[in-house]
Amino acid sequence: MKDIFQELFGSAEGMRAFRAPGRVNLIGEHTDYNLGFVLPVALDLATTVAMATTRDGILRIYSEHRQEMRQWNVKDVEGLSPAHDWSDYPIGVARELIQAGFPIQSANLLIASTVPEGSGLSSSAALEVSSALAFLHGRTLHPMELALLCQRAERNFVGMPCGIMDQYISVFGRSSCAVEIDCRSLGHRLVALPAGITFVAVNTMVKHALASSAYRERVAECAAAVNALRQQFPGVESLRDASPAQLAAVAPKLSGVVARRARHVVTEDVRVGRFVEASVAGDLPDMGRLMLESHLSLRDDYQVSCQELDFLVDAAMKIDGVYGSRMTGGGFGGCTVTLLRADAAPAFKAQISAAYQARFNVTPLVYACRPSDGAAEL
Ligand code: GLA
Repeated sequence: MKDIFQELFGSAEGMRAFRAPGRVNLIGEHTDYNLGFVLPVALDLATTVAMATTRDGILRIYSEHRQEMRQWNVKDVEGLSPAHDWSDYPIGVARELIQAGFPIQSANLLIASTVPEGSGLSSSAALEVSSALAFLHGRTLHPMELALLCQRAERNFVGMPCGIMDQYISVFGRSSCAVEIDCRSLGHRLVALPAGITFVAVNTMVKHALASSAYRERVAECAAAVNALRQQFPGVESLRDASPAQLAAVAPKLSGVVARRARHVVTEDVRVGRFVEASVAGDLPDMGRLMLESHLSLRDDYQVSCQELDFLVDAAMKIDGVYGSRMTGGGFGGCTVTLLRADAAPAFKAQISAAYQARFNVTPLVYACRPSDGAAEL
């Protein structure tokens, strides 16, 4: 990275590099902004931002993936409007840092990433968190504040009303463990995964372009369900608080769509708890069943799947050694995650690729999900 930095900016003196991982979510989808539970794993796919301060008053950011250089006067950064491209992530973070009392220095930044974009593996949060660490350049910010600040950047500047899962796991990920996050208390516990198994992500190669407007709609539908629930059960402040019985009691007052959305969230929260128990007990068939139930609920009730994701889940379930499979991330494209015996992974990769290629004439990328540590300086 130092060589590229040197070539781009003429000097790599004082360069420091910061890495933040992408993630795969094992279960608990579209529950985070309903203050429920999620179970992601930080991956060894990560974004790295290298940064060196300069004295010319200019902030330059180069994206290796886009092969694009952007630059601004440092003093203008606070007042910038979104450009609706990749630069909104680091600039959104820079603005939040300024507001939090961390002035942005004149600097050169180089972004490089192995997290595939628009694939449901959280390339956005990886870019936000690695950018934040680069801008901080050794200044300390509490890890929870770091995750929340990056979430604010995405909500306020990028304009995506996301939950906390992606930024949280990018900061708090741990190698060899999944992390169960309570999205209300913001506490977490590490969940050991059974021996002899692995998770594999398969990319539909469909970029989730629809996702942002549909995501916003889902957030609004969940809020509508909470409003109705609250009239009968004043203790319900978010769908996290609603039991399946309470939801059934108000269902006749909800539109069919809103009732289905709420049913997904309420049942998905229950599935996260059961999945964690099954994982601790090493009950692989139960873990697999819960993943499949999650997928069906996302497909039928939450309606955020697509035919490519459904095909990959169905095809995976027919392959030897597979316990369960589901879409992961926001949906409308991106990846599935599949739980399988570790020794079955090579054959799985070959068979799922061949099946997808035969059906859609597209070669899917397949990623081994290796749990990794959260963001840090390299
Ligand atoms: C996106 C959002 C997350 C979460 C997932 C769905 O990745 O950034 O906050 O809502 O979708 O579970």
